[in-house]
Amino acid sequence: MKVLQVSAEIFPLLKTGGLADVAGALPVALKGAGCEVRVLLPGFAPILADLIVPTVLAELTAPWGERVVLRQGVLGTLGLRAYVIDAPQLYDRPGTPYEDAQRHPHPDNHLRFALLGWVAAKLACALDPGWQPAVLHSHDWHAGLTSAYLAFGPAKGRRVATVYTVHNLAYQGLFAPIHFYDLGLPAAAFAINGLEFHGQLSFMKAGLYYSDHITTVSPTYAKEIQTPAQGCGLDGLLRVRAHDLTGILNAVDETVWNPALDPALTAMFDAEKPAGKALCKAALQQALGLAVQADAPLFGVVSRLTEQKGLHLVLAALDELIARGGQLVLLGTGETELEAAFTARAQAQPQAVAVRIGYDEAYAHRIFAATDVTLVPSRFEPCGLTQMYGLKYGSLPLVHRVGGLIDTVVDCSLEDLADGTANGFVFHEFTQQALARAVRRAFALYARPTEWRSVRQRAMQQPLGWDKAAAQYVALYRQLVTP
Ligand code: ADP
Ligand code: GLC
Repeated sequence: MKVLQVSAEIFPLLKTGGLADVAGALPVALKGAGCEVRVLLPGFAPILADLIVPTVLAELTAPWGERVVLRQGVLGTLGLRAYVIDAPQLYDRPGTPYEDAQRHPHPDNHLRFALLGWVAAKLACALDPGWQPAVLHSHDWHAGLTSAYLAFGPAKGRRVATVYTVHNLAYQGLFAPIHFYDLGLPAAAFAINGLEFHGQLSFMKAGLYYSDHITTVSPTYAKEIQTPAQGCGLDGLLRVRAHDLTGILNAVDETVWNPALDPALTAMFDAEKPAGKALCKAALQQALGLAVQADAPLFGVVSRLTEQKGLHLVLAALDELIARGGQLVLLGTGETELEAAFTARAQAQPQAVAVRIGYDEAYAHRIFAATDVTLVPSRFEPCGLTQMYGLKYGSLPLVHRVGGLIDTVVDCSLEDLADGTANGFVFHEFTQQALARAVRRAFALYARPTEWRSVRQRAMQQPLGWDKAAAQYVALYRQLVTP
């Protein structure tokens, strides 16, 4: 089956969060499951630079008159066939893929990402005479217009099944209605039964409304987004589409996240031979100026510093965590207030708290390897990958009871410890007190080294690879192409 994956980011070339990890791993897993996969990406500089033997497939004029070139080739790092939209005037800019260096969204984001969906729809309508996808699978709002363009495109495109994956409903790609006229969609599309959302354009809603099937990245989040509390205003539409909505849990790319083969680590280790983990911990404590104490529970955070991630609860519980003899290491970047608050805590207690503001892939690996606990207290979390990286690296996740966090973490309650299913710590109420209790539970288990080691070993042995999710996506694609 021929599948075209459409996303704005792809690991290891361009990443701002978990979307890139998924966009890099899923195509490879689908190939392993027998699909013929290609990817379509915007031509950000690192992506274009990775394209081996690129050729020009087409020169195109976007609905708003922009001239762009569509290249095809192979992404060298991933060995994937790719189409890349070469439009330096749109994509070759400082900052992140979405924001300028001052963290302001680019004013023409509606065009930069409409183009992605527009080209995807063209590829579904035989733009490449040598390759026609049976499934067009687009990810998040950046690719949300794909199915809208296809719905209003030439009839032959409609034979292509469309799947739209929501990675985070909170980022919706909302734009002023004035921009609708640039997009080249018929007036009928700007309606409640279309991409209009409270008078604005919503790329997210376009994906939800026009795609044949919607998936999201965990079974629990698939239910949560159908409620007013978590539906970000789109829960009504998601309830209407409930029969076309599936939660498929993300997974871990074990070629990237494997402590037994990880070159970023001071020492490699695995579930059977965990000794290297203690070396990783000592080396990190030493490098960061933390007290080098093997028996001080080391808590880690690797995260975007945004309101979603619930890190103000960690700030509130930090005194108690330190008073009990714990330490915290944090790597993150994002909101200025959170950056400043964590930095101040590290300056005040350098022996117990180490904070690095920034983005550093290798350092993230070292944190999972060195820490005893990975903190993920998110207010909401569609899937979450860091709790799974924590499991793989023997850093037991401590999480809020939401989204994909519930689908991957089982609390160390006495009964689940006895059953051998416990692998971390889960708190229910989204409060400082509830987080603090879970932290105390972590200390209590840590004080029983034999039990801690056995929970850690099971956590590290848990199957978390992409094969299961890939099989679920393939089953879904089959259903859609042979109705
Ligand atoms: P989200 O996509 O909401 O940010 P996920 O847990 O799904 O959350 O994925 C986050 C990804 O980004 C993980 O691969 C994590 O290791 C990585 N990450 C987040 N912040 C940083 C950082 N400051 N440096 C390196 N990697 C980071
Ligand atoms: C989003 C979500 C995160 C998820 C990731 C990959 O960024 O916030 O929970 O793991 O996408 O699907």
